Amino acid sequence: MYQILTFYHNFMRWLVLASLLFAIYRAYKGYFSKATFSKIDNAVRHWTATIAHVQLMIGMVLYFQSPIIKYFITNFKEAIKTFDLLFFGLIHGSLMLTAIVIITIGSAKAKRKPKDNEKFKTMLIWFSFALIIIFIAIPWPFSPLANRPYYR
Ligand code: HEM
Repeated sequence: MYQILTFYHNFMRWLVLASLLFAIYRAYKGYFSKATFSKIDNAVRHWTATIAHVQLMIGMVLYFQSPIIKYFITNFKEAIKTFDLLFFGLIHGSLMLTAIVIITIGSAKAKRKPKDNEKFKTMLIWFSFALIIIFIAIPWPFSPLANRPYYR
């Protein structure tokens, strides 16, 4: 179960990033070319938020299956002194949750904006902000915070 969850959680990171980058690209292009907010743009907005929500669910299940987190919770006072444990025990989940809340708010706000240009602008700002947080919180092999492989 744990192996399967880490595999999917690892793989889903690429979908989260690809969908966010694509949505930001479309929002940028749409905003600056004063395009019409098409059905495709709306689907991109919707699916980007949905993919992020799926990753959030996998992350939450993984949190309570991970031996690292079990160790972190049972040895809390000692574990917070080790940065890798603190990262996965508190920092990673909190930052990712914040980013996904930002995506959710941005998506909902964009949906409700009356003008097409405002829809693109809202998506562009909120999704870009979330992307920055996600990029920082991913345990890239090159990250100064914590390291995990690109693929499982
Ligand atoms: C956009 C959201 C997220 C992304 C892109 C993401 C990405 C990742 C990646 C790439 C890893 C390394 C996986 C591996 O070991 O190969 C990881 C590990 C982990 N993530 Fe996330 N994550 C997200 C959200 C969350 C959330 C919301 C939680 C929990 C509340 C969470 C909990 C964990 C845990 C506990 C690990 C470490 C598992 C272990 O090594 O035992 N993640 N995450």
